[in-house]
Amino acid sequence: MNQTILVTGGAGFIGCNFVRDCLRNEVGSVVNLDKLTYAGNLANLADLADDPRHVFVRGDVCDSALVDSLLRKHRPDAVVHFAAESHVDRSIHGPENFIQTNVVGTFRLLESVRGYWSALPAAQRSRFRFLHVSTDEVYGSLAPDDPAFTEATPYAPSSPYSASKAASDHLVRAYQHTYGLPVLTTNCSNNYGPHQFPEKLIPLMVLNALDAMPLPVYGDGRQVRDWLYVGDHCEAIRRVLAGGRIGETYNIGGGAERANIEVVRTICGLLDELRPRPSKYASLIAFVEDRPGHDRRYAMDASKIERELGWRPHETFESGLRKTVAWYAANPDWARSVTSGEYRSWVERNYAARGSA
Ligand code: NAD
Ligand code: DAU
Repeated sequence: MNQTILVTGGAGFIGCNFVRDCLRNEVGSVVNLDKLTYAGNLANLADLADDPRHVFVRGDVCDSALVDSLLRKHRPDAVVHFAAESHVDRSIHGPENFIQTNVVGTFRLLESVRGYWSALPAAQRSRFRFLHVSTDEVYGSLAPDDPAFTEATPYAPSSPYSASKAASDHLVRAYQHTYGLPVLTTNCSNNYGPHQFPEKLIPLMVLNALDAMPLPVYGDGRQVRDWLYVGDHCEAIRRVLAGGRIGETYNIGGGAERANIEVVRTICGLLDELRPRPSKYASLIAFVEDRPGHDRRYAMDASKIERELGWRPHETFESGLRKTVAWYAANPDWARSVTSGEYRSWVERNYAARGSA
C-alpha cells in the first residue's frame, strides 16, 4: 500500500502508537497534525525523528487555513481523526476546551475535508476515507447485568467529555448522510499501553507506586471498564480503514471487563515481582472521594468488527498489562519528560480537594 494518511492528534497516546503501527506495516506516509497540548509530547515520537515517511506539523484542528493548506500540499488518501481533549476528570474541572476541540475542531476539520474531497479526481475521491476515532463512553453507563453496548445502543453520554465526543460522532454521521462524505466511525473501550499520559488510571498507578506515593482509587473502586491493549486498537483502526463499510460505526473492545480495584491490585502484584520493596505495593492503595457522575460500567460487544473484518485482540489483559507495567518501569526518562509543571498543578487540582472515601 502506498497511501498518505493525515493523522490528527498523533503526538498523543493512541495517535503515536497508530503512527508507528502504520509505518511498521508499510501503509505509506503519515502527516501528523498535533497542537501539542499538555497531553501531546514529541517525546512520544522521538524514534521517528529521522523517518522521512513521517511529517510532523504543530497546529490546531480548529485552524481551517492550516488544515486546508495541509490537504492541498499533501493530498492525503485518508484522514484519521484522533485529536481531542480526552480526560474525563479534566472535563469536569473545565469543559470549555472539550467543546472547542472535540466539537468545533471536528466540525472545522469536516468542513475542510469536505471541500478537499469534493474537488478530488473521481478515482481518488472514491478511495478517500475519513475515519473518526471515538469512545464507548458515548453510550453511557451499564448496570452489572446489562448486555454489552452494541452499535445500535442509543447514545446517553454523561460527562462533558463523553457529551462532546457524542456531538462529534453526530456531526461525522451527518456529513455522510447530507454530503456523502465517506466516513467511518470507531467506538473503542479503555486503552492502555506505552506512552499513555500519566493522568489516566493505569500509568498513574504504576508511576505513583514506583515513587511510593498513594494510589488514589475513586469511590468504592467497583467501577468496571473493558480494557484493550493499544496495539490491538491500532490494528482495528487499520482494518476499518481498509475494509470498513462507508457510514458504518464499529465497536472495538477487549472483552476484558475488570473492576478498577482489581486493576490496581494486579498492577501492585506485577510491581512486587518486578521491583520488590520491603512492604507490598498494595499497602499504598487509598480510597478517595468519587468522581462526580462516575459511570459505573462499560462493556463493548465487538462482534461486528470480528465478523465483518476478522479483527480480534492479540493481547489478553494479563499479557498486555505485564508488558505495559514493564514499559513504564523501564522508561523513567519518558515519564519525567511528560510530567511537567502543568502535570503537577493538575495533580494538585484533582487530588488535593478529594477527601478519603
Ligand atoms: P490523548 O489525550 O493522549 O492525546 C490527544 C492528542 O490530541 C494530544 O497529542 C493533543 O496534543 C492533541 N490535541 C488536542 N487538542 C488538539 C487540537 N485542537 N488540535 C490538534 N491536536 C490536538 O488522547 P488519547 O487517549 O490518545 O485518545 C485519542 C482519541 O481516541 C481521542 O479522540 C479519544 O476520545 C479516543 N479514545 C481514547 C480512548 C482511551 O482509552 N484513551 C478510548 C477510546 C477512544
Ligand atoms: O472508555 C474509553 C475512555 O476511557 C476514553 O474515551 C477516555 O479518553 C479515557 O480517558 C478513558 O476514560 P476513563 O474515565 O474510563 O479513564 P481513566 O483512566 O480516567 O479512569 C479509569 C477508571 O479509573 C475510572 O472508573 C475512574 C478510575 N480512576 C481514575 C483515576 C485517574 C480512579 O479510581 N482513580 C484515579 O486516580
